Amino acid sequence: MKIGILKETQKSEKRVSISPNIAKQLIALGFDVLIEEDAGFASAYKNSDYQNVGVKVEKKEVVFKEAKILIKINPFTLEDLKLIDKSHILMSQLYHKSNEELIKAIAATGATAFSMDAMPRISRAQDMDVLSSQSNLAGYKAVIVGANEMTKIFPLMMTAAGTITPARVLIYGVGVAGLQAIATAKRLGAVVEATDIRMETKEQTESLGAKFISVDNTGEEKSEGGYAKTASEDYARKQKEAVNKSLFKADLVITTAMVPGRKSPVLISEEQVKQMKNGAVIIDLAAVQGGNCEISEMDKTIIKHGVKVIGSSISPISVSTNASDLYAKNMFNFLKHLTDDKNEFKWELDEEITDETLIIQEGKIRKN
Ligand code: NAI
Repeated sequence: MKIGILKETQKSEKRVSISPNIAKQLIALGFDVLIEEDAGFASAYKNSDYQNVGVKVEKKEVVFKEAKILIKINPFTLEDLKLIDKSHILMSQLYHKSNEELIKAIAATGATAFSMDAMPRISRAQDMDVLSSQSNLAGYKAVIVGANEMTKIFPLMMTAAGTITPARVLIYGVGVAGLQAIATAKRLGAVVEATDIRMETKEQTESLGAKFISVDNTGEEKSEGGYAKTASEDYARKQKEAVNKSLFKADLVITTAMVPGRKSPVLISEEQVKQMKNGAVIIDLAAVQGGNCEISEMDKTIIKHGVKVIGSSISPISVSTNASDLYAKNMFNFLKHLTDDKNEFKWELDEEITDETLIIQEGKIRKN
């Protein structure tokens, strides 16, 4: 079975879906691996790094022609589809729920397509979950970007010229990105607090040495399948009351709160921003879905009421080598899960991971 690794074409993308190390492991399993030339270059992997482990470096057209399994990170494009036919098995993120036209176009080629972002949130799928592996890096990078934007340092520092008190960091949303943001800010020496609608995150926050800000729970069910549900107005009001004291003292606020398939909840109003410290920084990672701060706008830095509000997806692209390595490992585990000892696909359609991720089978759309 031949695997083709394609070069990402999305603007400013720097990652590659399979690293040389994972390519080596796939070859050891018995797969043949081809890569489009320079596909790994922006992740610091040269063509020769792949060739050295036995990968064939080829022009794009050759990869499409020879490989049966085609792997990418970003969704296949309409341009790609010109080179795709019913013999291909595509693997990438497809965001099928919001990409209806693309899904129809792929189906029209007769190909089969798996979507990595449709991975179910179950324990045994954790090592294949690209959303988690990439969010984790985004959480780390958000703190680094925040540190760079602040006019203060993070740790307590005692010097002959006086003592510098540690920075105060507040994190909204203790999911994958939020947890890594807590851990990174703690490592840098900040005083860290966090809040989340899911009470199970209290213990996780405290295990990292941060303080959890609990919101009086009215008994509503806050999560479903590991994801948060939309909060009630009553909860939102209580959350503001519980968090305001910390928010108004914070030097850096990182917001990561999202509700799958919905607009992000607005957790910080402009009124609240007005009461924040002059020079404070808000990094709104939820800006991609509308934002957790009323002021934030995607891909913009807005300074208002003395607070710098950065709306950004802080993409794992900025740490493309690690992001590629983790994506590749997820993909390796997924391929192993789907195939048997002879590297043939098992097509276990009643198995949850296969069922959820197999969006199109031989031109037939299975999931909308
Ligand atoms: P996410 O990106 O959807 O949301 C981030 C965080 O925001 C969540 O913790 C959510 O509870 C919180 N949030 C939403 N609305 C809020 C509000 N109004 N106020 C405060 N917080 C709010 O979540 P993410 O990072 O994708 O992970 C969610 C959970 O799923 C985590 O517990 C994670 O460990 C789990 N998970 C499990 C996987 C598996 O078992 N395979 C894979 C990935 C995540």
